[in-house]
Amino acid sequence: MSIRRLPSELIDRIAAGEVVERPASALKELVENALDAGAANVTIRLSGGGIGLIEVTDDGCGMSPDEMRLALERHATSKLPNDSIDRVTSFGFRGEALPSIASVSHLTLESRERGADGWRIEIDHGVRAMEGPAALPPGTRVRIEELFGKVPARRKFLRSPRGEYAASLDAVKRLAMARSDVAFALEHDGRRVLSLQPSSPPQRVAALLAAELERHGVGIDCVRDGLRLTGVVSLPTFNRGMADQQYLFVNSRPVKDRLLVGALRGAYRDLIARDRHPIAALFLEVPLEDVDVNVHPAKTEVRFRDSAAVRGLIVGGIRAALDAESHRSAAREQAAAPVQWITSENARHPGVGRDLSEIQPPHQNFAETPAYARATNHTVREQRPLFNGIRVEPAARAEAAVEPVPSFPLGVARGQVAATYIVAEAEDGLVIVDQHAAHERLVLERLRAGRSDGSVPRQNLLIPEVVELDEPDCDRLEGAVTDLSGLGLEVERFGPTSILVRSVPAALGSPDLRKLLSDLAAEIAELGSALSLQERLDHVEATIACHGSVRAGRVLSVAEMNALLREMEVTPRSGQCNHGRPTWVKLAHSDIEKLFGRR
Ligand SMILES: Nc1ncnc2c1ncn2[C@@H]1O[C@H](COP(=O)(O)OP(=O)(O)OP(=O)(O)O)[C@@H](O)[C@H]1O
Ligand SMILES: [Mg+2]
Repeated sequence: MSIRRLPSELIDRIAAGEVVERPASALKELVENALDAGAANVTIRLSGGGIGLIEVTDDGCGMSPDEMRLALERHATSKLPNDSIDRVTSFGFRGEALPSIASVSHLTLESRERGADGWRIEIDHGVRAMEGPAALPPGTRVRIEELFGKVPARRKFLRSPRGEYAASLDAVKRLAMARSDVAFALEHDGRRVLSLQPSSPPQRVAALLAAELERHGVGIDCVRDGLRLTGVVSLPTFNRGMADQQYLFVNSRPVKDRLLVGALRGAYRDLIARDRHPIAALFLEVPLEDVDVNVHPAKTEVRFRDSAAVRGLIVGGIRAALDAESHRSAAREQAAAPVQWITSENARHPGVGRDLSEIQPPHQNFAETPAYARATNHTVREQRPLFNGIRVEPAARAEAAVEPVPSFPLGVARGQVAATYIVAEAEDGLVIVDQHAAHERLVLERLRAGRSDGSVPRQNLLIPEVVELDEPDCDRLEGAVTDLSGLGLEVERFGPTSILVRSVPAALGSPDLRKLLSDLAAEIAELGSALSLQERLDHVEATIACHGSVRAGRVLSVAEMNALLREMEVTPRSGQCNHGRPTWVKLAHSDIEKLFGRR
C-alpha cells in the first residue's frame, strides 16, 4: 500500500462532499459570503430549485482580480485577520466554500471594487476555464451552473426541483431572519418569491413566519448569566405536525443545533402532544468566547461552554412567557375573528373552522323538549315520544338565566351538553369548556404544585390494595418506587406479579388502580432512560392526571361545573390540555349577533 498526497482538485472535491450537499447548501454559502462582504442588498435567482442555476448578486465590498484568484483557492480567507478562531463574528471562516463549490460545478465569479473595473473568472469543475474583464456594478455576482454535473453519485441523491427549491427557500429565510437590516430578493424560475426591505427583527420574522403568529405568538425577551434570548414562539395550542418552522440563531448565525431544539421541546413538554411541534424564531446572544462555531463543516452547529445555562435560559424563558399568557388559547383568539366554531381539530389547523352560517336551525319544536321546559321553569312532563315513536332522552340540561352574570372571565355555568361540555355565560359571550380536558389540566397543575414544594397531598388507603400485573410491569414499577412516592403514589412490591398500593395522590379521588398502574408501567417502559428524571416525572404525572380527571360523559351538577370554572381561572396554563388542545372556547356576543344577522 503506497501512501500519497492527493491532488488539490481531489481535495476540493472531498471538501465539497462536506460543505456542498445540495443546491441549498451552496446557496447558503454564497449568501453568507455576500453578507460578510457588507452587502445592503442581496439578490438571488434560482432555476429548477437551484439544480439548474444559482445566482447571488450583492453590493458588498467586491474583490480585486488578485483577490478573486485567491478566493478560489483552498484555505484562503479574509475573515480571520488575526489568526484567531475563538472570536468569529463573520458567517464564513474556513476559506473553503468557493473552491469546494467550484470543484463540483461550473462557477462564474464576477466582482468589482468601488472605483475599479470588474473582472470575471470561470471555473469548470475545478479547472480554470476563462478569465477576463466584466461589466457589473460594484459588488460581486456568483453563478453556479451544472451543480454535480460530473458527480453523478451526488446528483442521484438530489430530490425533485420542487424539493430542492423548498430547501433553498428555507436557507434564504433563515439568513434573511438573521439579518433583517439587509434587503433580500429571491426569484425562482422567473417568478419573484421574496422581496424584503430592511426592517426590525420582529417585522422580518413576522414577514417570513406564519402571519398568524401575530395573534397566536408570545414574545420572548430575557437575560440571564450574560446570555440573552429574544424572539417569538407560538402558543401551545397553535402547533404543527412538523418541526419545520423552528428558526434558531446563535449570535445571528442560523443553526440547527440539537441542544437548542431539545431545549425548545423541553419548554413545551406537557403543554403539547409528543408528535406536535411549536413554531419559533429564537435569537440567542452569547459572549463570543463562550461559544465554538467551528464544530461542523456547514457551520450549522455550535458548542457552548456552558450548555446547561443555555438550556436553562431557553426552557425557563419560554416557560415564563407562556405562563404569563397561560389563559390564552389559540381558540379563544380565533373566536374573536369572524364567526367560526373552533374545534380542537381546527385549533391545531387554523383556518379550517366551519362557518356558523352553515349550521341550520334544528327542525324541532323547542318548546317540546325537556331542556326548554326546564329552562323556562315549566315542569317537565312525561317524556313524550317524538319522531314516530323514537324516544329522545334529554341530552342536555340548562339552568335558568335569571340572576345577573357576575364578572367571572369564564362566566357562570348554564348547563352541560352531551355530558361532556360545560356551557357558561360570561359577560362578553358564551363559553364552552371541554370538561375532561380542562379537569385533566387542573389535576396535573395541582400535582405539580404539590411536587415542587414536596407536599403532594396523599390519601392513605384504609386497606392497602393488591394489584396483579405481569412481572416486567411489576419490575418497572418497583424501579420507580421513589419517584412515584414523590408524586403521592406509594407502592411496594408484594410478590413476583403483584404490587401493593398504600396511598394515592389526593387529587385522584378513587381511580381504577389496576388500570393506573399498568398505564404507568407502560409509560415507564416507553420512556426508558432517554429522558431526564425531571422529564420522566412530568410524563408520569400527566398519566396520573389523566386517570384522576372527570371523564367525558359524566353528568356534573351546576355547583361542580362552577367550581371547575373558578379553578380554571386561577390555575396557570389552564387554557390548553396536556396535549396542546384548547380546554375552552368563547363565542363573543358580537359573533352571536352575526349569526343571527343582527350585524
Ligand atoms: N460576495 C463576496 N464579496 C466579497 N468577497 C467575497 C465574496 N465571496 C467571497 N469573498 C472572499 O473570498 C474569500 C473566500 O470565500 P469562501 O466562501 O471560500 O471562504 P470564507 O467565506 O472565508 O469561509 P467559509 O468557507 O467558511 O465560507 C472570503 O474570505 C472573502 O474574502
Ligand atoms: Mg464563505
